[in-house]
Amino acid sequence: MGMSRREFSLLMSSAAAALAAPRALAAPLKVRRGIHTLGATDLDVLRAGISAMKALPTEDFRSWMYQAGVHGSTAAEAAAIPDGATYWRQCKHNSPHFLTWHRWYLLFCEEIMRLLADDCHLTLPYWDYIADNFLPEPLRIPADVTTNSLYDDTRHPDINTGVSGISGLHTDALDVVDFLMFSDDLASNPHNGVHNQITGNMGLVRTAGRDPVFWLHHCNIDRYWECWIRKGGGRVHPGSPWSDEEFPFHSLTGRRDVIVADGLRTADLGYTYDSLPCSLLVVWEIPDWIRDLVFVRVPWRRPPLPDPPPWREILELPPLTLNGQPTAVVVSRAEFLRAGGANARRVAVVLHGVEGLSARENRAFSLDVALAPDAKRIAVNDFRGVAPIDAFGNFELSVLAEHAEHHGASSALVLELPERALKALSAGGDEFALVFFRRGHVDRDGRPRPFDAKQPLFRIGATRLAVQ
Ligand code: C2O
Repeated sequence: MGMSRREFSLLMSSAAAALAAPRALAAPLKVRRGIHTLGATDLDVLRAGISAMKALPTEDFRSWMYQAGVHGSTAAEAAAIPDGATYWRQCKHNSPHFLTWHRWYLLFCEEIMRLLADDCHLTLPYWDYIADNFLPEPLRIPADVTTNSLYDDTRHPDINTGVSGISGLHTDALDVVDFLMFSDDLASNPHNGVHNQITGNMGLVRTAGRDPVFWLHHCNIDRYWECWIRKGGGRVHPGSPWSDEEFPFHSLTGRRDVIVADGLRTADLGYTYDSLPCSLLVVWEIPDWIRDLVFVRVPWRRPPLPDPPPWREILELPPLTLNGQPTAVVVSRAEFLRAGGANARRVAVVLHGVEGLSARENRAFSLDVALAPDAKRIAVNDFRGVAPIDAFGNFELSVLAEHAEHHGASSALVLELPERALKALSAGGDEFALVFFRRGHVDRDGRPRPFDAKQPLFRIGATRLAVQ
């Protein structure tokens, strides 16, 4: 079938128009702003949106509790919700989808908030805790859940009154080139630290989404991702297997199965941030001994709680009862090397029988483990600047309890030492140390404010060094 020149050019121009249309009609990007820049009216709108969500019954997917359940809940809570098995308990930690999943999660919740606040300008604000590590005032004043929907009374009281700030947020994650490592670093710190130091709802994956600060926290984490790309990271490979992953969400228009690759840049999803790039490194006074620490981590590439541990245990350290102060366990280097550490390709710290001892810690339990290459160089009552590693989600008592239920009382937590620690282990002074932390906050001058310092918080039945 022939086509006249005129028909052909008409066809071409309508194709061009169709191509150009989305651009011409595209709404300008919505801008997410730092909470400190929000005026009284903006805050009213935000509070109204959250209040409206809180007023809906849990079964309504637009409700606050439903959205919190999408992040985490007990299995029983999810089972009580229609479609709970599809949409609830989805939070992706210890996986390549820490950043990707939370991005979409925020997006759908923000849409709901915008609709219920009846203000098309509403965007989720972020809390830049690197600029200000004290909980922003709108989240804590008025200190009343009935008049301030941004308030949550389960947070640590010192955080909620503004007496304490978050400690140890330093990280060089933005300089990391590999996306998965960047994501992993960010998840450890500042992400976990903020959760674990706010405590209460925020301290548990299961309840974190109930605290409004969760949304501001993750908005900030999401901002770092875009910062990192602009800074030249950008090694997000749209062709890699993890970017084909799909997640089901209950959106305003019904079920949406989102594909990770569709949301690798904020602009793809219609928004941006008022401040990019960002900085992550907080330069608070960091004692030298802390600079030398190597943090032990639970690698996401393998299940966080492997069972049975594929490790050969070579050295047993005494049982421990920990309180809020850092505790060091000294190990003879010669003994470690003799027992099999000398030829080890991989080394892990295996914790057996971890038990929580206080009700408070049962809600928000966290523990950081680090290696001090030289036991002589530590001052364990000074934890300034210590970055928390992989506590949120991995050391939660509810997670441990579930694990123990599935795998029996012998279940162990295996924490692998990062590669650079191996060198530190094989050479150095007579002794190295494992340092266990339950971190505290800092005051306005950046001085440590340990909490629960005297109270026994948890017991570790046995700590063993294991090798492969
Ligand atoms: Cu899915 Cu900060 O948590």
